[in-house]
Amino acid sequence: MCGIVGYYGPRAPKDVILDGLKRLEYRGYDSAGVAILHDGEFKRVRASGKLSELAKKLEGEPFGGRLGIGHTRWATHGVPSERNAHPHKVEGVSLVHNGIIENYQEIREELRSSGAEFTSDTDSELVAHLLAREVRGTNDLFAAVQGVIPKLKGAYSILAVWEKQPEVLVAFKNGPPLVLGVGDGEIVVASDVQAIVSYTNKIVYLEDFEIALVQGASYGVYSDKGEPLRKPVHTLNWNADAVEKAGFRHFMLKEIYEQPRAVAQAIAPHVDLDRMTVRLAGVGMDVPYDRLEAVDALKDSENTAERLSLVERVFVIACGTSFYAGQVAKYLIESLAKVPVETDIASEFRYREPVIPPRSLVVVISQSGETADTLAALRLAKRAGAMTLSICNVRRSSIDREAQGHLYMNSGAEIGVASTKAFVSTLALVNLFSLFLARARGGITADQERRHLEALLATPAQMEAVLSYDKWFAEAAERLKGYRGVLYMARGVNFPIAMEGALKLKELAYMHAEGYAAGEMKHGPLALIDERMLIVMVAPTDQHYEKTLSNLEEARARGGHIISLGTGDNQELKRLSRYYLSLPKAEWTVNPILAVIPLQLLAYHVADNLGHDVDQPRNLAKSVTVE
Ligand code: AGP
Repeated sequence: MCGIVGYYGPRAPKDVILDGLKRLEYRGYDSAGVAILHDGEFKRVRASGKLSELAKKLEGEPFGGRLGIGHTRWATHGVPSERNAHPHKVEGVSLVHNGIIENYQEIREELRSSGAEFTSDTDSELVAHLLAREVRGTNDLFAAVQGVIPKLKGAYSILAVWEKQPEVLVAFKNGPPLVLGVGDGEIVVASDVQAIVSYTNKIVYLEDFEIALVQGASYGVYSDKGEPLRKPVHTLNWNADAVEKAGFRHFMLKEIYEQPRAVAQAIAPHVDLDRMTVRLAGVGMDVPYDRLEAVDALKDSENTAERLSLVERVFVIACGTSFYAGQVAKYLIESLAKVPVETDIASEFRYREPVIPPRSLVVVISQSGETADTLAALRLAKRAGAMTLSICNVRRSSIDREAQGHLYMNSGAEIGVASTKAFVSTLALVNLFSLFLARARGGITADQERRHLEALLATPAQMEAVLSYDKWFAEAAERLKGYRGVLYMARGVNFPIAMEGALKLKELAYMHAEGYAAGEMKHGPLALIDERMLIVMVAPTDQHYEKTLSNLEEARARGGHIISLGTGDNQELKRLSRYYLSLPKAEWTVNPILAVIPLQLLAYHVADNLGHDVDQPRNLAKSVTVE
């Protein structure tokens, strides 16, 4: 989704804004632009396509001022083009916008009837028109923004500047994230801290309906009614190096290689190694939650374990890859803790009028912590009186801030649009959570907990071994890209991994792929199988192995070419498959963490071999802040 950067300070705004937009590239975009102060006016430069196109246009452009705003656009209203790129400028007001104005038609008609002329097809330009009209009356940009907010419906965050107040930048948040970086004599405003960390680690997170007023190097945060707010300044422990490629060709490949560390970092805070037990440190479910009035027993209980022991139903809600992690959680929680689990795609959950009984726990999973549908699902769950727990990578993101309890992926910055390390970290966390819940409810013995924990603690080292398939897939990519499509199949806890493998191939290689429960094959997909169809069968030695093997025989009998993933030196699988990839022997609970790595590598190498932009696949965004 769109990226926003604004800067006031002694450095060249052009450089800071371009650098910031570059660091936000992962969000996905199709055009970009800046408006920077020069000789008393905000000079606008925009370009369609990649940031390098904008950079070319900016070469040699003199900008004398200290203030500027910039934007990468991900088209919603109007095709990707220079005329639709931001900033939009109307009568000296320049504006960048992230989100969607839902009452766009109505505003456009109203503006048109009062004589406005439009230079783009965007909803964002309308906001610039409204602001230009308002500022004529208020003669003050902050007051103009306040005046325009009630006229807009939808989710939208904006930065605005006005030529008559050349030291002033106004930022408003309603939906898409906005953060302020407070440096020494300089201020950076951006959609994500990644655009800020090179300049300062002092961060102020704006909440919905807050307005930040930057005046020179000082700032204030206000409610939309204009009341001053006292906002905490957080100190980040990230640094800019964390968002470099470190010698890898792509962020995605670097992130695939970082997975063993990501899993170790996700696990570390939550394991008591002396007692070999899960402790879910700092999860925060013991903090009183004012919306629990309908669940008195939960409210009265003293700590996280007690609270969770009273949970009678778990809902796991997420989108995309995070949703597949949620489906793995269902298998683990139901099997280990014996609590019924419903999983739902957030965009369905929020509109299907779900029944959320008392003593329900709603777990929302989101790497970015900003996914609009997941955030809406969380809010719905809170209104229904459920306990809520978020699993996020980005701390202080909207979902993290609004959930009652928190688990952190601790994966470090994930830049590749295709999620990899955040996924495996989540799988590790749902392992821990299931064990914790199982213990809290008396569902497993200390010995069982120890066995599962030992298996989990061993995974980072086992993952290192699986990463060696990198070379194999690099060599096989040329052959694999020739298939008409790929069917990924598995059973049980690995079924979501089949779906995740298919999603990875779709989003990166733009090849058709499906993830299926292997037992479903004869109910339809078998008809697809011939020698042009590649079958990827995830078949580790677990309780489903024999049945998966029969499904493999069926696929082979129809001429499908098979890559199988099994445990150790499995002769049966070798005989039935064109290619056999061996996974280390592990507990069923951690097999998904190991099995997903070859599927990520397959998608990565096929996409790279096809010449696709692996880190920024077409049409996709990292942080999906509109529904
Ligand atoms: C993953 O590779 C995707 N690009 C996408 O499905 C992603 O997982 C989804 O949009 C959810 O994002 P979140 O985890 O940040 O909420």
